[in-house]
Formats: sequence, C-alpha cells, structure tokens
Amino acid sequence: MSFKTIALAPNRLNRSELAVPGSNPKLFEKAARSAADVIFLDLEDAVAPDDKPQARKNIIQAVGDIDWGKKSLAVRINGLDTHFMYRDVVDVLEQSSDRLDLIMIPKVGTAADVYAVDMLVTQIEAAMGRKKRIGFELIIETALGMQNIHEIAAASPRNESLHFGVADYAASTRARTTSIGGANPDYAVLTDADDAGARDTHWGDMWHYAISRMVVAARANGLRAVDGPFGNFSDADGYRSAARRAAVLGCEGKWAIHPSQVSLGNEVFSPSEKDVAQARRIIAAMKEAEAQGKGAVSLDGRLIDYASIRQAEVLVKKAEEIAAQ
Ligand code: GLV
Ligand code: MG
Repeated sequence: MSFKTIALAPNRLNRSELAVPGSNPKLFEKAARSAADVIFLDLEDAVAPDDKPQARKNIIQAVGDIDWGKKSLAVRINGLDTHFMYRDVVDVLEQSSDRLDLIMIPKVGTAADVYAVDMLVTQIEAAMGRKKRIGFELIIETALGMQNIHEIAAASPRNESLHFGVADYAASTRARTTSIGGANPDYAVLTDADDAGARDTHWGDMWHYAISRMVVAARANGLRAVDGPFGNFSDADGYRSAARRAAVLGCEGKWAIHPSQVSLGNEVFSPSEKDVAQARRIIAAMKEAEAQGKGAVSLDGRLIDYASIRQAEVLVKKAEEIAAQ
C-alpha cells in the first residue's frame, strides 16, 4: 500500500438510484415505498424551466413529510451555468428538514464547481444550524468533467460518489449513439475472414473508457462509482447487461429512470449467495493458513493470498450491509 491513506466516503448502499421528477409529487410516495437504495428528487433535466419554482416547493415539503424509510435521499440541483442553481441550494437547504442526505450536482466541469457549491452549502448549514452534513453526488457528463475528473473527485470532503451521466456525456462529446446508455452496432470489430470466408461482428462497449476512468477517480478518492441511466426501460435484459458491465469494472450501482429498473439494479449489484459462500470459504482458508504461518494457500486447486482475502472481505461486507437494510 501507499503511505497515503484514502479516507472513505460515508458508507451507504447505492445499488439502485431512482430518479423522480420534482414536478410530479404524485410519484413521491410510490418511490418512497420502492426498493431503491437511493432516491434523487430532480430539479434539473426532468423539470421544465417554468415548473422549477413549484418543483422546489414540492421537494421541500416531501423531504420532511414523506416516510423515506432507510433510503438515502438526494436532490439534484440545476447546473452552475443556470440561474436556477443558487435558489435550488438556498431554498432546499434553508427550508427542508434534516432528512435530506445528499445534493447531486450535474454537469460538474471543474473542481471549482464543487468548491462553489460547498461554500454555499457550508454557509447555509451553519446559518440554519443543520445537524446532518450534506454529502455530494457528482455527475460526470461532459468532456470537461471527464478531463478534470481526478481534481473533481478530490474537490470536497463532502464528495461521496461519482455518477456517469451517459446521455449528456454523449451530447458533450458528440458521440454517435442510438439510445441512452445502450450498445451501438457501429462500435464493433469485424473479424478477418476465416478459411471459409466467414466474418464475425463483435459488438464492443463504447462506454468502457468513460466508466473505467470514473471508477479509478472515484476509488482513488474513497468515493463510490455509480453508472447512470439506461433509457430503454422496456429492455430489462439490456439494462442487466449494461449494469453487469459496470459492476465488473467496479461500479456499486446504477440509476433507475423507471421504477421497473430498481429491482434489476439491486439484483445485479448484490453479491450472489454462491459468491458470498465462496468468499467466506476463502477467508476461513486464509485464517487457517495464517495460523500455520503461511501467506498463501491453495483452495480448490487455485492460489489464494492476502489479495484474495481483501476481495472476499469486500464481498462479505457488502452482503452484510444488504442484509441489514
Ligand atoms: C444524466 O443526467 C445523463 O445525462 O445521462
Ligand atoms: Mg444529464
């Protein structure tokens, strides 16, 4: 390990993160009863400009009035390039109850964006005597944000998670996409012809670089990495496939832009019983090896060592957190 220790963000489950438009309070109760780990009440892109003042009022009331259970509760404010953002922060933090856990900042482009919101939030918290410190969820969804992602991830002790906003990212980078967060037949490798002249097409994942880069920036700063939206909510298999790819790379969860995607996110980002049982066996085998003064041992014909223990412990800890929820 490096001599530098990484402080971890406060621990919370983040397998599914349900987006709920602040302008549609009819959806709030249902969202609160859903199985989502995190809910974000949206003031940004799901809300038309003329509806923003009413959406703020809806959210302020709902934060305190609705029983959100053990869920983490976030509000997505508007971007720093708009004239809505300051009032989002001021009104929501001055008027809503301490039930609120997180503010989600969209389209973060530089570390200074985070610094600016931190300054505002810090003043309001002090002035209002808010007891719970608000954490930040940062959406990386522009070329600028992706360029500056490491400085952004380190920009505030309030930072808890980085999110990949694939829709805006595609717009910002002018990527050619056919759907939000889906695969693209043009991002494929055509194999050379085999002896019979046949050629295969292997689809690739056009978001691989962006998500991997986000995972590295997040983990190097003790934050969670969370994959963003998958637009086609009728395609459960497509969602699962995208979520699995993100999970394999180190993401802890994925957005749900429709309630039907919540259970899919929870399913993919929960370790399976089989994996947990195997992780417990690895920990037990390593404990025994250690008692015998060995640093590595073989289990089922495979090498396990201290790195295997660390992987196994992460998995078992996650399973315990899920069971406790
Ligand atoms: C989310 O905000 C996105 O743009 O994908
Ligand atoms: Mg966006």
